[in-house]
Amino acid sequence: MRIKFQNRPFAAIDCDLLAYPMFEEETSGKPAFKTLEGATDGIVSAVLSGGEFKPELHRTCLIHRPKRLKARRLLLIGAGKESEFTLARLREVAGVAARRARAAHAVKTAFLMRGDFSGSESAHAAADGTLYGNYESEMYKTRDIETQDLEEVVLLAENKVRTHEAEEGARQGIIIGTAVNFARTLANEPANVLTPGQLAERAATAGERAGLEVRILEREDMEKLGMNALLAVSSGSEQPPKLIVLRIPGRQPVKGAPVFALVGKGVTFDSGGISIKPSEKMEEMKADMAGGAAVIAAMTALAQIRPRHAVIGLVPSVENLPSGKAAKPGDIVKSYLGKTIEIINTDAEGRLILADALAYARTLGATRLVDIATLTGACVIALGHVNAGMMGTDQEILEHLRNSARFTGEKLWQLPLDEEYRKAIRSPIADVKNVGDRSAGAITAAKFLQEFVEETPWVHIDIAGVDLCHDEQPFSAKGATGFGVRSLVHLLTRCGLSGTGGK
Ligand code: BES
Ligand code: MN
Ligand code: ZN
Repeated sequence: MRIKFQNRPFAAIDCDLLAYPMFEEETSGKPAFKTLEGATDGIVSAVLSGGEFKPELHRTCLIHRPKRLKARRLLLIGAGKESEFTLARLREVAGVAARRARAAHAVKTAFLMRGDFSGSESAHAAADGTLYGNYESEMYKTRDIETQDLEEVVLLAENKVRTHEAEEGARQGIIIGTAVNFARTLANEPANVLTPGQLAERAATAGERAGLEVRILEREDMEKLGMNALLAVSSGSEQPPKLIVLRIPGRQPVKGAPVFALVGKGVTFDSGGISIKPSEKMEEMKADMAGGAAVIAAMTALAQIRPRHAVIGLVPSVENLPSGKAAKPGDIVKSYLGKTIEIINTDAEGRLILADALAYARTLGATRLVDIATLTGACVIALGHVNAGMMGTDQEILEHLRNSARFTGEKLWQLPLDEEYRKAIRSPIADVKNVGDRSAGAITAAKFLQEFVEETPWVHIDIAGVDLCHDEQPFSAKGATGFGVRSLVHLLTRCGLSGTGGK
């Protein structure tokens, strides 16, 4: 699919379908509405006054052969209240346009970017949303399914914008939207296809294509380094573990400037291990590498959009299965950092592999740590499928992530990390145990991670409730969401960070 910006009036665009987002308060008095009315010879007000269409968010109405428009069809899309229209909503509405256009078998389409945003921000959000909406997960059906692919989407501006700025915004939106869809594809893959070895291979292929330096640590490397927490999780599986390390080459680290590490949980299947999970919904645990996928995808995007800060990506990847070689409740392992861990529950495996990867990231020179993981069912209980949970010790990064949701659409909510929660993971026999009791499960998991980041400023993102979307949405297919890619890229490209010299 080609997405391009054009600085032309919408009535003059020759295409199969023109998508026109419409606000709820749109009335005949407003100039934009007058233009539309003129261009369609009053059909739009007829549709509105007849009650056939209300511009509520994501609702649509398809009008055939609109008079005076070069477009063969006009798709009105509800954009909700104008006062509530954010870039996140513009992205969603662009996604609705792409999905409805596909369903209508349109091949060449145009999308009018509405709202009071800069050309670059609008085109960024619209290009990203178009790709998001157009995405369908890899199909394993052997019978052909009839689909019509979108070939071209022309982005148009409602207000005057500078062409080169809108073009640059579209370029970035395409890079990020492509990365988000790459993360979705990885998370949607079944676990027999996407093993740790396969995840490493796909990271290497995509990474090298994007210009990243890719290094894969093998089991022997991890044994030498003493990553026994990670190795314990992997021990029940026939699939060898991998630690994927991604870097952007050719950047001399500036002395004193921050070095970020993005660390993503890459459990390609989580059966729970010996502490085995109930079988209901266990198939969803093929997506327990969604955090890792977000890191890999964000790094491929960052390689193409120069980040503001130095950044390394790390993805510890394992399969968590029971077997005669698997770790057992009660086992004690010595982690890479040197702290000993009593494994009480083998289903709390994500924190074990992250413990080693976070500590290793510090050895590689990271001075800011951000991890992202489908870590706890408790986070889903606390926040449902709307907000991801976040906790940490770097309030500036936490606030940046919270605020960027208006742009990225990825909502994050901070949970507390008080010292008192540490008690829950005290072990009578080792330095720490890997689970607390049932209370505050998302927080005690983060407390466990905190043991391994020590004093390094750190943020943990728990995406257990938001990595999958269980139903199709007007702007997206069901399945993996790619949550985190946009937030991570936004953080690395837009966060100033006070007192670091990072421009
Ligand atoms: N991968 C799961 C968390 C999860 C649950 C993700 C539901 C997505 C949806 C994680 O490894 C896990 O099993 N966590 C346990 C921790 C418990 C044993 C302390 C949980 O949340 O039940
Ligand atoms: Mn688990
Ligand atoms: Zn897990």
